[in-house]
Amino acid sequence: MGLVRWRDEYKIDIAEIDREHQALFDGIAALVTCLLLQRIKEPDGERRQLLLDEITLQLKTHFRNEETWMKEAGYPEYEQHRQEHKRLMDEGQRIIREKIAAGESVSDLLVCLTCWMDEHVVEYDKELGRYAKQRIASYACPS
Ligand SMILES: [Fe+2]
Ligand SMILES: [Fe+2]
Repeated sequence: MGLVRWRDEYKIDIAEIDREHQALFDGIAALVTCLLLQRIKEPDGERRQLLLDEITLQLKTHFRNEETWMKEAGYPEYEQHRQEHKRLMDEGQRIIREKIAAGESVSDLLVCLTCWMDEHVVEYDKELGRYAKQRIASYACPS
């Protein structure tokens, strides 16, 4: 399973959400590169927990910001999308615990995380971008 990197196809054309997505993908990719090239030591124990806690916090913050945007925009799929964020956090944390117990490296965990992000952005966040475009189009002045 390879690392998923930020691609222009992820853009949903909501500037603040695109910025956060790109920062998440780029941040994790930079970290994995450092780990694989052994520019930094594979974290274990408390350091690994701190690192995973930091990434979890970034993801939670992103989900909260996205949910605020959806709510303010009156997005009809808000509740379903919010539930999907919750499922991702709950299931992600369970899987991470299992993988750590099985001795997987942090870089492998991070690669997994970028795959989940890829699936979520493509399946759910892109839909949000389409909704935003339709809304903007509905406000356009007739020519
Ligand atoms: Fe989302
Ligand atoms: Fe998102």
